[in-house]
Amino acid sequence: MLSNSLIELDRAHLVHPVASYRGHEHMGVRVLASGAGAWVTDASGHRLVDGFAGLWCVNAGYGQDSIIEAATRQMRELPYATGYFGLGSESAIRLAAELAERSPGDLNHIYFTLGGSDAVDSTVRFIRYYYHAKGMPEKDQFISVEQGYHGSSTVGAGLTALPVFHAGFGLPFDWQHKIPSHYVYRNPVGSEDQAIIAASVAALRQKVEAIGQERVAAFYVEPIQGSGGVLVPPPGWMKAMREVCTELDILFVADEVITGFGRTGPLFACTDEDIVPDFITTAKGLTSGYVPMGAVFMSDKVYNTIADGAGAAAVGHGYTYSAHPVSAAVGLEVLRLYENGLLDNGRKVGALLMKGLRALADHPLVGDVRGRGMLAAIELVTDKARKTPLPAAADPARRIFDRAWNNGLVVRAFGNGILGYAPPLCCTPDDIEAIIERTRLTLNQTLEDPDVRTAMA
Ligand SMILES: Cc1ncc(COP(=O)(O)O)c(C=O)c1O
Repeated sequence: MLSNSLIELDRAHLVHPVASYRGHEHMGVRVLASGAGAWVTDASGHRLVDGFAGLWCVNAGYGQDSIIEAATRQMRELPYATGYFGLGSESAIRLAAELAERSPGDLNHIYFTLGGSDAVDSTVRFIRYYYHAKGMPEKDQFISVEQGYHGSSTVGAGLTALPVFHAGFGLPFDWQHKIPSHYVYRNPVGSEDQAIIAASVAALRQKVEAIGQERVAAFYVEPIQGSGGVLVPPPGWMKAMREVCTELDILFVADEVITGFGRTGPLFACTDEDIVPDFITTAKGLTSGYVPMGAVFMSDKVYNTIADGAGAAAVGHGYTYSAHPVSAAVGLEVLRLYENGLLDNGRKVGALLMKGLRALADHPLVGDVRGRGMLAAIELVTDKARKTPLPAAADPARRIFDRAWNNGLVVRAFGNGILGYAPPLCCTPDDIEAIIERTRLTLNQTLEDPDVRTAMA
């Protein structure tokens, strides 16, 4: 009864992110009611193992009492404090300091946002301001990577390189450029690491030359491309791209909104390759999704140039909820949990996840298995030799998601037949086993899909 009325209210009033509005009205919402550990329960009592940690964000898992207590304590004491007018709160100041202490290199300055999109958007503003402060306002061209995702703000969605975020929105802007992705499984230069790195380095150099080096402001990249299909670059790829940017005097922005906070193992995936970017953007795992918060990490060099450039004038960038004390209190507690076992557990069960997914490689539909830590994907094909994607007629995003859901598994089902995994770092080995077994069942059911069978015939 309750669930039915919620479906009607949702249909009438709630606009969902990245959804076909008409399609959603037709399907109706699935209401999630509760969560514990790596499991969620819907309004009808159906229990599912959450192989996607909400939206790659609930890294600590559901129902962590100490996070709830930290938020409650902060709400009771001081639910809000502005950062404007020279004011601040203890939790936000402490979180900034703790993050700066753990961040790579000289990324010592933290600007808090509400999530990932406004973190990316903020970097664009900071970068433009930085070059104005340096007396180089003509450096206003931005480069990112095809299949990349950098959020859904008006500006960030143009750095994003997924067509659905552009169509109908007048994007990308003419100052937003792209180079091809490393996409190892489908790279035209083959799958050899060094060839892929060389091709990407050459593509970046060519793009910079075509635009004019004196015009290029920054290069944006995810350590692992998440929303593009969990595309893992070859080892050394990020470092090679960072080196090109240093050589060509282009700011390097690592978008760690997904990869940050233990997703690939360490707190920051950049440390996997010993990279110090000029900016890191984070969100999601920063508060484990319990409350909204993102963070821009800014290097000493950038911060000091902006500060000196502005002098006594205000740098006109700010949000009412920047450095929100409740979000910061949650961030501090989540950080404590990461360092008191969650990161270690994530590394341990991440190895089990990869082992389990690799064991599915001989399934007739599995063309590729890839990932690092607790971030992984399998890519389905109807012909392994030709790497033929699942046909659109098989509606992979909808049907595979539905099958997995009915099997008690939440997984990210991409439109082109890629299944994405980002389970909570608190998973037990049994939780991972449940994810793998339910995936196997889902694959077997997909093999029986008449549209898939037709494509395979
Ligand atoms: C790499 C990356 N950047 C930015 C964003 C945008 O973050 P948000 O959805 O919190 O605005 C996301 C979200 O998935 C992301 O994956």
